[in-house]
Amino acid sequence: MTVAVPPEVVSALRQARHVGVLTGAGVSAESGIPTFREALTGLWARYDPAELASPGGFARDPERVWRWYRERRMAIARAEPNPAHRALVDLEGRVDRFTLITQNIDALHARAGNRDVVELHGNITRVRCSVENVVVPDFEDGDAVPTCPACGACLRPDVVWFGELLPMTALERAWAAARDADFFLSVGTSNLVEPAASLPWIAARSGALVVVVNPSDEGQQHGPTIHHLAGPAGQVLPALLAAAWPDSAAETPRVDS
Ligand code: OAD
Repeated sequence: MTVAVPPEVVSALRQARHVGVLTGAGVSAESGIPTFREALTGLWARYDPAELASPGGFARDPERVWRWYRERRMAIARAEPNPAHRALVDLEGRVDRFTLITQNIDALHARAGNRDVVELHGNITRVRCSVENVVVPDFEDGDAVPTCPACGACLRPDVVWFGELLPMTALERAWAAARDADFFLSVGTSNLVEPAASLPWIAARSGALVVVVNPSDEGQQHGPTIHHLAGPAGQVLPALLAAAWPDSAAETPRVDS
């Protein structure tokens, strides 16, 4: 696949003082982790988020919620970071300031080697007490729903469910980065879930050049300083880096800039 990277994108990236990145499920698609909203393959086409990813669903049937998260956790543990994740590690090493914000709970950015990831929707590898909200480092992941060693309440995945607030520190860091960045990448998200969906807009309005990486244009932002690089992130991100730093050609498809 040939990725055409406009020259103004290349020079903005090379000169960027602060690069902000927002990722969604699409960045992990090439690692074999299903996205949420794609017809037929998306998780929400096959499962009901009200039953599996909401406090009400957990209260009604904690065993079912646990089974679903256990399967997802095991699938994620088997998955490997892909070239898109690795390109973002490379990018972190090349710019002065770098803030990686993700809606993903799969921890693949950290496993790829990014040092400081702002996790807006939590992390499936952690669990917390459903009453005290304290992260519990050790738990027995058997058939029964594990309980809190301190108070005996059910443990739950440390992820944000529908109807819940995002972790405030993460959200404030994300907003601050979107306002401060002069180059902002939005990778593999449908832009349907707030407040993450507003971050590229905030960046664009604050003066950043925004680059959307997504095979689909559906739901994506448009504007004079917003560029769309259409294609899978595992090909587009390495190509973007190769265009900006031609010495980084390791996993790179051909680039026309
Ligand atoms: P979605 O499933 O809504 O969107 C996935 C996006 O990835 C779509 O725009 C696809 O076109 C794009 N995509 C697919 N393959 C890609 C690839 N190889 N490279 C780049 N892009 C690709 O996922 P999110 O936008 O992440 O929240 O969803 C946001 C939130 O909704 C999730 O964090 C989750 C969900 O409900 C919670 O669980 C709280």
